[in-house]
Amino acid sequence: MSEAVRRAAAELRRGRLVAFPTETVYGLGADASSREAIARLYEVKGRPGDHPVIVHFTDAATAFKWASEVPEAAHKLAAGFWPGPLTLILERASTVGDFVTGGQDTVGLRVPVHPLALELLAEFGGGLAAPSANRFGRVSPTTAQHVREDLGDDVDMVLDGGPCGVGIESTIVDLSRGKAVLLRPGGISTAQLESVLGEPVGTPDSAAPRVSGSLAAHYAPRTPARLVAAAGIESEIARQGAEAAVLAFGAPDARVDFWVRMPRDPVQYAQKLYAALRELDSSGAKVLLIESPPDTPVWRAVLDRLRRAARD
Ligand code: TXA
Ligand code: MG
Repeated sequence: MSEAVRRAAAELRRGRLVAFPTETVYGLGADASSREAIARLYEVKGRPGDHPVIVHFTDAATAFKWASEVPEAAHKLAAGFWPGPLTLILERASTVGDFVTGGQDTVGLRVPVHPLALELLAEFGGGLAAPSANRFGRVSPTTAQHVREDLGDDVDMVLDGGPCGVGIESTIVDLSRGKAVLLRPGGISTAQLESVLGEPVGTPDSAAPRVSGSLAAHYAPRTPARLVAAAGIESEIARQGAEAAVLAFGAPDARVDFWVRMPRDPVQYAQKLYAALRELDSSGAKVLLIESPPDTPVWRAVLDRLRRAARD
């Protein structure tokens, strides 16, 4: 156990905020059983009080103590994907404070796989609320440096575990209303979920729980961004090359000053995405042109984030 982890756990017990790495993105951690700590978390994030946060645990048995009922599907998904980039929405136990659930009757539970996160959770002992460690609505941080840039002195401590491996947020599955419903695509694909569940995973209807990450303009850079089909990139560059920064698969075009080339593999793309959006955002360009990946299942989670980044 490193000295930094011991200190981080001690800070958390005193109600302080500690950012820590997970395999998806960096989380802003706070004691999920402390109303005061969570109030400060919401204040620093700038997050509305009715938006729930995900609570993180060291293992499934500990996590499920926070649920009033654990359906068979939850046991299956936990066995298949925990620790890992999956969040389960279950009915909350009566002991769970409504301050972490945004006043809803359900709670979001996750067991991350990042070794530093697991070490911290084990040393802390309880549940850690940890939304992505950025201000509300902005691009999630995938390095400790991103966290410091975003939150400055508002975060009491940052545990540095290097760049995150997955790079986009966890998959969220609602199991609180009978059948499994995908609330947010992420690190685990629908096909993976369905193969473990042995049944189809639905998409949300209007009665599904609220997910702030599903607000249209979430995960957004400050510079206006446009998602452009591969075939349209050339003419957009001809139109506004000098004004634009480009995120694309191909080699740089001489008419564009700021160009980030992305991998053609969706897993590698996701890993680089948020750092790339931050880079583009600080380039001084007037508009960000993003070449759209193909609309196929393997690109679903990435496309979801790109579509939100490109909304205003
Ligand atoms: O990968 C992740 O999930 C990262 C890392 C740090 O673990 N965390 C993360 O947290 O993305 P956050 O708070 O930025 O996003 C959590 C999402 C929100 O969209 C929230 O609305 C949803 O989870 N959520 C949490 N609890 C919920 C609940 N009880 N019902 C419905 N949605 C819930
Ligand atoms: Mg977030």
